[in-house]
Amino acid sequence: MSDHRFLRALARQPVDRTPVWIMRQAGRYLPEYRATRARAGSFVNLCKTPELACEVTLQPIARYPLDAAILFSDILTIPDAMGLGLSVEEGAGPRLAKPMRTHADIAALTAPDPEMDLRYVMDAVRLIRRELHDKVPLIGFAGSPWTLACYMIEGQGSASFARAKALALDDPATMHKLLDVVARSVTAYLAAQAAAGAQALMVFDTWGGLLAPDMFGEFSLHYLARIAQSLQSHNAAKSTPLILFSKGANAHLEALADTGCAALGLDWTIALGEARARVGGRVALQGNLDPAVLQATPAVIAAEVEAALADFGAHPGHVFNLGHGVTPDVDPERVKVMVDAVHAAGRRIRGG
Ligand code: CP3
Repeated sequence: MSDHRFLRALARQPVDRTPVWIMRQAGRYLPEYRATRARAGSFVNLCKTPELACEVTLQPIARYPLDAAILFSDILTIPDAMGLGLSVEEGAGPRLAKPMRTHADIAALTAPDPEMDLRYVMDAVRLIRRELHDKVPLIGFAGSPWTLACYMIEGQGSASFARAKALALDDPATMHKLLDVVARSVTAYLAAQAAAGAQALMVFDTWGGLLAPDMFGEFSLHYLARIAQSLQSHNAAKSTPLILFSKGANAHLEALADTGCAALGLDWTIALGEARARVGGRVALQGNLDPAVLQATPAVIAAEVEAALADFGAHPGHVFNLGHGVTPDVDPERVKVMVDAVHAAGRRIRGG
């Protein structure tokens, strides 16, 4: 068994204190990230240059005593490799130049070969593993088929992704064709990241919570389960823990826990103790402080961390995180307050 407490917690093994990492830990709230991004010229160049992706991956690890690093990349690398053309404008969010609007668009898509078409990601994983010197484990990731389909159809972010939902409702066969090719792409991409050295894998289903229950089962959960099952037939991936984060989908925790994943990511709209009571016997849980807490005073941040850890209790299988990504307006000093509070309270609760 690994002696990294992040991997031990994912396996629901005992740990000396609760491990912690932060979604979007390498990002715009860090001045050193903004400097590297400026040097890269654009976000996409930053992702596509392994040396720079490695540099920003390591920035939060150098600054804070975190228990895991996450590959610096984006979920939209797969649609980009499929030919949709990704750009990310300052302040405007991601954009795909060639959205998928017709059956013919979708029928023409093929799954990218990770070591050919996404070689820069695999090179970044290999370089980061080398530079980390096993200080902390590296997390690889991908978007869920549903969430990637949302962006591929819409071409950009949206509050409701109404076009994607309309396709699912009007022409489910075409939507399934899209989800199928994306699910095959995601599985191959995650398996390749594991083979390149990623020690845990996470799937971001950011927009799963937009779906009504039946649609969630048919268009999101089904493909998450397929990915979890398919990874079992890949040598490096089958022993690599998989974390599923379906934001806004707390109604489906039991079904998500039945997919065969090692852990579930939680957003902040459910109490940790309640989530543990529902599925903590089957999977580890990761989360789930409201990112807005990082705007509060240091004393309040520490109290909120303490309350969350106490709510989970001394049971095995907790990885502390935010319930969604850290926002660009956060003061890096407050992130330090949060991490230090997790160390102190997590040690007290676990007796380490
Ligand atoms: O967590 C990390 O530190 C690793 C890096 C990471 C990024 N994106 C970097 C990024 C990860 C894991 C992602 C995943 C991602 N990308 C998701 C799923 C997680 C989530 O937040 O729900 C989604 C939906 C995307 C799509 C995406 N890419 C969006 C919505 C944006 C815009 C964000 C914004 O606030 O403008 C991006 C661009 C992006 N990806 C940035 C970063 C640091 C900001 C780009 C910049 O530097 O200007």
